[in-house]
Amino acid sequence: MCYNKTDDNMKGRIFLKYDAQDCKLVFSQNLTDTIYDFRLRNKELASITKPGQFVQVLVPGKTLRRPISVCDIEDDAIRLVFEVRGEGTEILSHTKTGENINIIAPLGKGFELDPTKKTIFIGGGIGVPPMLYSARQCGANATVINGFRNKDAVILSEDFEKAGCRLIVTTDDGSFGIHGFVTQPLAEIIDEAEMICACGPTPMLRNIAKMAEEKGVPCQVSLEQRMACGVGACLGCAVAVKDGNGGTVYKHVCKDGPVFSSEEVAW
Ligand SMILES: Cc1cc2nc3c(=O)[nH]c(=O)nc-3n(C[C@H](O)[C@H](O)[C@H](O)COP(=O)(O)OP(=O)(O)OC[C@H]3O[C@@H](n4cnc5c(N)ncnc54)[C@H](O)[C@@H]3O)c2cc1C
Ligand code: FES
Repeated sequence: MCYNKTDDNMKGRIFLKYDAQDCKLVFSQNLTDTIYDFRLRNKELASITKPGQFVQVLVPGKTLRRPISVCDIEDDAIRLVFEVRGEGTEILSHTKTGENINIIAPLGKGFELDPTKKTIFIGGGIGVPPMLYSARQCGANATVINGFRNKDAVILSEDFEKAGCRLIVTTDDGSFGIHGFVTQPLAEIIDEAEMICACGPTPMLRNIAKMAEEKGVPCQVSLEQRMACGVGACLGCAVAVKDGNGGTVYKHVCKDGPVFSSEEVAW
C-alpha cells in the first residue's frame, strides 16, 4: 500500500511517495495498566526519523490507521508509547513480540531544535512520550516538565534522566512530585528558557503559549487532531491558524504539523 502526493511547499513540484512498511515488534512492555511501550525494528526508518514526527499504524481489521508519535529512536528501532483509548489501540496492544506491525513513517513536521539553547520541554499525560527523543537532542540544556493525573500515571522518568535532562514532575493530585499543573514550575523557570516545546491537552498548550508570549520566549506546540490519511490528502485534520492579517486559515496537522509555532495557532 502506498500514498502519493505532490508537495507544494518544496521548490518545484517534488513527487513524494509514502510506503507502508512491516516492522517487527522486537520489544514490548506495560508502563502502566493502559500504557504500552513498543520497539519496532526498521533501520532505515529509524535513521531518518526526527523528534516530534509520528507514524501511522495499521490496526488489523481497521481501515483507518492510528497516529502515534515517535517516543524515541534506539539503535535501529522506533519506540512508540501509546495509551489504550478505544478499539484500535486495544487491538494494537495485543500484538506479540516477533509479529509485524505495518506503519507509514516518518510523518509530519517535528520540533526545530537547537541543542545549544536552553530549552524547556513540557509533556502532559500521553503528550509526554514524544518529548523524550526531542529532549535527548538538548541533553544537559534540556529541562523537562512532565505532568500527570497522579502517581500511577507517571511514566518515562528514568528515561529522561538517562538522557541527561533536568526533570521536574507534577501531579494534579499531589501524589507524586509537585502538586499542581506543569505551568506552576514553568512560571518559576521560564526566565531561563530560550525555547519552549510542548505536547499535551489543548488547554495546557494554550496556557503555555500565553506564558511564552508574555515572556517573549519562542514556543513550539505539538497538536493532536483526529486523523484519517495522515499525509495531507483527506482534509480530516484541519486546524485554524492565523493568516497574519487578523483572520484565520486552515492547515493540516498531519502535513503542516503536528508541531506549530504557538504564535501561529488561532487558540
Ligand atoms: C499526531 C498524533 C500523535 C499521537 N501520538 C500519540 C502517542 O504517542 N501516544 C498515544 O497514546 N496516543 C497518541 N495519539 C492519539 C492516538 O492517535 C489515539 O488515541 C488513537 O488514534 C485512538 O484510536 P482508538 O481506535 O484506540 O480509539 P477510537 O475508538 O478511535 O477513539 C477512542 C477515544 O479516543 C479519542 N481519540 C481518538 N483519536 C484521538 C486523537 N487523535 N486525539 C485525541 N483524542 C482522540 C476519541 O475521541 C475517543 O474518545 C496521537 C494522535 C495524533 C494526531
Ligand atoms: S489526516 Fe488526512 S489531511 Fe490530515
